[in-house]
Amino acid sequence: MPPSDAAAHYQAFPSRESILAALARRGADLAHLTPDHLAPFDQLHTGGAAATQALIARLSPAAVDHVLDLGSGLGGPARQLVAAAGCRVTGVDITPRFVADAAFFTERTGQADRVAFREASVTALPFPDGSFDAAWHIHLAMNVSDKATLYAEAFRVLKPGGRLAIDDPVRGQGDLLFPVPWAAEANTSHLATEQELVAALAAAGFQHVNVEDVTEQAVAWFAEIARTRKPGRPGTPLDVMAAHHRANLESGAARIVSILAEKP
Ligand SMILES: C[S@@+](CC[C@H](N)C(=O)[O-])C[C@H]1O[C@@H](n2cnc3c(N)ncnc32)[C@H](O)[C@@H]1O
Repeated sequence: MPPSDAAAHYQAFPSRESILAALARRGADLAHLTPDHLAPFDQLHTGGAAATQALIARLSPAAVDHVLDLGSGLGGPARQLVAAAGCRVTGVDITPRFVADAAFFTERTGQADRVAFREASVTALPFPDGSFDAAWHIHLAMNVSDKATLYAEAFRVLKPGGRLAIDDPVRGQGDLLFPVPWAAEANTSHLATEQELVAALAAAGFQHVNVEDVTEQAVAWFAEIARTRKPGRPGTPLDVMAAHHRANLESGAARIVSILAEKP
């Protein structure tokens, strides 16, 4: 998927206004939001805030670290990381509306002194070599066809000893149902196998590549959402995408992996 296709796809996701309206209905103080208020809306990946928390535990940055968030979306994971670890985070994303909305919500949570967002492609990062202590991406690589450049760029901007954490879907066995949350059809999805992701990381120079399968947690998260969902709520196009993603995970056509790698 060329970067512009990804940006076009994500334009269809809920707007800032619809998120604010939903928060107002829940009685939130819109001038003083917290990452917890926003979590049902700003975590654009399987497993939501719980999956982000698990990746925070794996990366465990120090408070003095500056972390790069590749494909930062609405900024939910970045704000959660800062709230948990006290570090600084810079997010980059190709979808202009997400970059603007991520900055807007970060002002509202009072974290703008520690979290910033830039509009850029992860395949052409606007940072000098060795800029970051750590990096992560959550549900990004399935949108990026050029994984060699994705990981070469991540490697370049990390300091020696810097770690990269990943939580992403990968290709399993069997046919995938489309549309899914990251792509309307097969030819705009760039879902790699676990082996392809690991090979791309190694080719970029990463070492100590450690993979954990977290599909079971993702399937349980979908089951919990279904259990607590209000009956009779009308299905949206995003609900259809989510249902297909759940079915793909349950059939084994897709899996979710958590990866930790290190720049020597
Ligand atoms: C599924 S969303 C995940 C967002 C965020 N990581 C989260 O978990 O909430 C994928 C994000 O990757 C971004 N993206 C896709 N291709 C990109 C690229 N080439 N460069 C930068 N961002 C990209 C999209 O705009 C979108 O915000």
